[in-house]
Amino acid sequence: MQNLEQLELQFQAKIDAEIKIEPKDWMPEAYRKTLIRQISQHAHSEIVGMLPEGNWITRAPSLRRKAVLLAKVQDEGGHGLYLYSAAETLGIDRDTLINDLHSGKAKYSSIFNYPSLIWADMGAIGWLVDGAAIMNQVMLCRTSYGPYARAMVRICKEESFHQRQGYEIMLTLAQGSPEQKRMAQDALNRWWWPSLMMFGPPDSESTNSESSIKWKIKRMSNDELRQRFVDATVPQAELIGLKVPDKDLKWNEERGHYDFGALDWDEFWAVVKGNGPCNKERLEQRVKAYEDGAWVREAALAHAEKKKERAEKVGAVA
Ligand SMILES: [Fe+2]
Ligand SMILES: [Fe+2]
Repeated sequence: MQNLEQLELQFQAKIDAEIKIEPKDWMPEAYRKTLIRQISQHAHSEIVGMLPEGNWITRAPSLRRKAVLLAKVQDEGGHGLYLYSAAETLGIDRDTLINDLHSGKAKYSSIFNYPSLIWADMGAIGWLVDGAAIMNQVMLCRTSYGPYARAMVRICKEESFHQRQGYEIMLTLAQGSPEQKRMAQDALNRWWWPSLMMFGPPDSESTNSESSIKWKIKRMSNDELRQRFVDATVPQAELIGLKVPDKDLKWNEERGHYDFGALDWDEFWAVVKGNGPCNKERLEQRVKAYEDGAWVREAALAHAEKKKERAEKVGAVA
């Protein structure tokens, strides 16, 4: 029998050679745990993320906007399902994952604890929140764990549609009446900083970063991704005549990047710890949706049971 050290060396050699780790392969317990935490957090974010936008489906300003938003929110539900399935390949069951979300033990992206107050927020969410998600997820298409990487490839295709539909809402409002332009600016003002916080704490305070990079779960740090997002998004705001709400924002010729102001990390931690504007409401909505859907799960199980019984009877006769 091989000792642990040898197994770990072989595992790291595979990672270094860009060979994907698959569910039945040996993996260090810490790698498995990190992935379960990250993939389930990601899955929870997808389904909690349906709530702030779901809030506007009935009030979308035209049939076209309604159809697009409905499709987008449905995509997010699908992303949640791929990701729960990817997490399950690591030997955890879905009930445990859902319970951890409902009890508050598991986290989801803090951005979804902010309220969606006006229609323009649908534009800002698609443009900025899905935009930030893409930065992170494009990197994850090459993550070392096979099922997660493959789920991400498909998810990324849909996310780029989400980002564009949001930007198109912002573009339309920014070219509209002064009141519409004001709404677009207001939405940008409120969603800008929480979007930058989506990349997580600064590298200096991020406890999981180092091993995640060594194992190629992540290939870029929180701060690198955040910088990328700022560099890509500021010109998009300028193009439609909106102003990013940061007085310290300035192109830095020497670095070839934008410099930007300090984030309010006290606010970030407060929201993570459950004290954001909508934490309580979001969890209540999720628990209610789960309870209201109990009959669907029961019916599906009863149907599967009946099918199995019938198949056994036919088998016994034959
Ligand atoms: Fe998504
Ligand atoms: Fe999305």
